[in-house]
Amino acid sequence: MKIQVALYAAVQAGLVFSQTTNGTETPSEVPYYGLSPPVYPSPASNGSSSTQWSAAYKRAKALVAQMTLEEKTNLTRGVTGSCIGTTGSVERLGIRSLCLSDAPDGIRGQEFVSSFPAGIHVAATFDPDLMYKYGVALGEEYHAKGINVALGPVAGPLGRIARGGRNWEGLSNDPYLAGIGMGAITTGIQERGVIATAKHWLLNEQEFRRTNTDAGEAMSSNADDRTLHELYAFPFMNALRAGAGAVLCGYNRANQSYACQNSKLLNGVLKTELGFEGFVVSDWAGQHSGVASANAGLDLVMPDGGYWGDNLTQAVTNGSVSADRLDDMATRILASFHLLDQEYSYPLPSIYTNAQKHFAVDAQSFDHAELIHQIGAAGTVLVKNVNNTLPFKKPRYLAVYGYDATVKASPWDNYLRFGGGYEVNFGWSTLNGTMITGGGSGSNTPSYVIDPFMAVSQRIAQDKGTLRWDFWSENPSPAFVNAEHCLVFINAYASESFDRTSLKDAFSDNLVNNVAANCSSTIVVIHNAGIRVVDEWIDNPNVTAVIFAGLPGQETGRSIVSVLYGEINPSGRLPFTVAKAESDYGTLLNSTVSSDYFPSINFTEGVFTDYRAFDREGIEPQFAFGYGLSYTTFEYADLTASLLGTAAGASAGNSIPDSSVAIVQGGHPDLWDTLAVVTCTVSNTGALDGAEVVQLYVSIPAEDTPVRQLRGFQRVGPLAPGEGRRAVFELTRRDLSVWDVVAQQWRLPRGEFGLFVGASSRDFRVNGTITI
Ligand code: NOJ
Repeated sequence: MKIQVALYAAVQAGLVFSQTTNGTETPSEVPYYGLSPPVYPSPASNGSSSTQWSAAYKRAKALVAQMTLEEKTNLTRGVTGSCIGTTGSVERLGIRSLCLSDAPDGIRGQEFVSSFPAGIHVAATFDPDLMYKYGVALGEEYHAKGINVALGPVAGPLGRIARGGRNWEGLSNDPYLAGIGMGAITTGIQERGVIATAKHWLLNEQEFRRTNTDAGEAMSSNADDRTLHELYAFPFMNALRAGAGAVLCGYNRANQSYACQNSKLLNGVLKTELGFEGFVVSDWAGQHSGVASANAGLDLVMPDGGYWGDNLTQAVTNGSVSADRLDDMATRILASFHLLDQEYSYPLPSIYTNAQKHFAVDAQSFDHAELIHQIGAAGTVLVKNVNNTLPFKKPRYLAVYGYDATVKASPWDNYLRFGGGYEVNFGWSTLNGTMITGGGSGSNTPSYVIDPFMAVSQRIAQDKGTLRWDFWSENPSPAFVNAEHCLVFINAYASESFDRTSLKDAFSDNLVNNVAANCSSTIVVIHNAGIRVVDEWIDNPNVTAVIFAGLPGQETGRSIVSVLYGEINPSGRLPFTVAKAESDYGTLLNSTVSSDYFPSINFTEGVFTDYRAFDREGIEPQFAFGYGLSYTTFEYADLTASLLGTAAGASAGNSIPDSSVAIVQGGHPDLWDTLAVVTCTVSNTGALDGAEVVQLYVSIPAEDTPVRQLRGFQRVGPLAPGEGRRAVFELTRRDLSVWDVVAQQWRLPRGEFGLFVGASSRDFRVNGTITI
């Protein structure tokens, strides 16, 4: 009955379309599943979100008012330049070209830059402060190199499928964790004067047929309205709220319309509902139409003119694109530039190809190495540690095995191997040695790498010990059986352009089992660009410790040694679920393969991805989302939960935010009001100093809602043995709401909300409730 009423209202609102996609009946109560309703005209922005935006718009508008038609269109297109993307300039008015560059984890293809941990590694720290510092450090390097626009951070892909090729560029498949990261990184980057670009908007979840090819059009991700909001748009909201000056639309189609010409997603969700004031830039060659993309809300095409340039001038002249739309495009680009005060002494780009003789500006002088080391260690996740194998107690004889222990190839080898083009790809793989980042445009170019073998060697030298190694064999000689521990370094590679075909590989699994056959304390370290299943050896009694070391960047060796030797007590947590078997991911394992001319992926699972799916299906994971061990133990106690005065106001009326309040960038401002505060104490009950990642999961009393969802986390500590501290979580209105497809707003349900605080999505230590 409830659904019928909702359906009736939606039909009245013109929101329901009956449609069958690929023979699959679409959920009828969900508006526009598999369709993109037209939203026109494109909203012109005026900077009303904040005084900063307003000042930026004033300056931008004054400039645009002086520009000719050709000058305006020239601003909206890419031109040839040394950067990965360069915008047209208007020298007459002193408007410079903007330099756009990858990658989200460090500047790619340049010298004297740092290789930072990848997004997924930063998420594994569960530490908003480190996320923010990461953003600041990136901003410093982008600024030093004269790059105006950093092409990150990433919340799409959101890791819908376990084998997604680019999941590691993004933060996590949990939208809350990803959202906190998106907000903190955006703030950090922009505090250093660089425009952050939240990407890839939206539903960009797989690499297979991510764009058009001879086989046909790009894959269309079809998601229902609620899923689109509660999962996929959710983390972008945090970046927008933090003031992101740019959003990059993806290669994919979304609900059957290309992301860069999807008026529902650009004009509707992004620019109207979420009040975006900055500019939308296309992914590289991701524009598929001229007039349609302009009217749908695209503001800047990259890397060249695409369908615009002179054609856009003509389209405005003949009225296919309005003069106001073009003014808005140019204004948005300039407004972001002014928002970050880039007209004042912003350095000119210092970006070169490797083969050019040049003087490179030094972005390493900031000494980001120590931050990279710290984040590298904080995002390292210990998942097995039998008999306190770790931390090491000054072992004097270690054996090191595995291709992943050392650097083998140079960035230049990778450049040649993966092809040049506009990308200096720096892919790491089994062949290449230790993996510090993934492959494709999201990879970075370290100025150096302290690899694990170097760092372990240094420590063994200090301890006057002995080291033996074999980086090549799948079945190393058992001659080193006298080693106290055997470290086995393996990796799980992933890259842009293709999805993974497996979450494990036989060579690495055989290597682990072969070493363990001769070594009673085998410690496995996995550098993983996403999920790695461990079913082939996790229960092997000789495998005494297992570490998911993620993608830690250039200080990889220092980070792992700090954790192995206990100088940094691990507190990293899995930002995804590790299943017992790959098949446990069910339909969310693989990319959708199709030879249709108009291929589709139907997101029929709705909001139930990763742990939400495992919880619903009652599947026992190998290691739950949020799981990670420490060298010490913690006790949780005294949960308190209180509603603030704002909660009464929020739940009054029909529980959706007051429509008379103006939208600002990031959405309705009331969504960010704190409605409740939850606290608990955490005490270190072990013998070593350590930090604990305390997680708050909430059950929202609404139909078809995940049993529990992460809605707070805090890295508490380091705490000394016996020391206790309070963890405090603030729950916002959005955190407690569900997207109402009929009202087209976030609705705060009334009822009892379950609160579960603990050490993972399956390990709750103190519980409570609040009733709204
Ligand atoms: C394509 C990728 O999808 C995007 O993330 C990147 O920023 C551009 N190439 C530019 O390299």
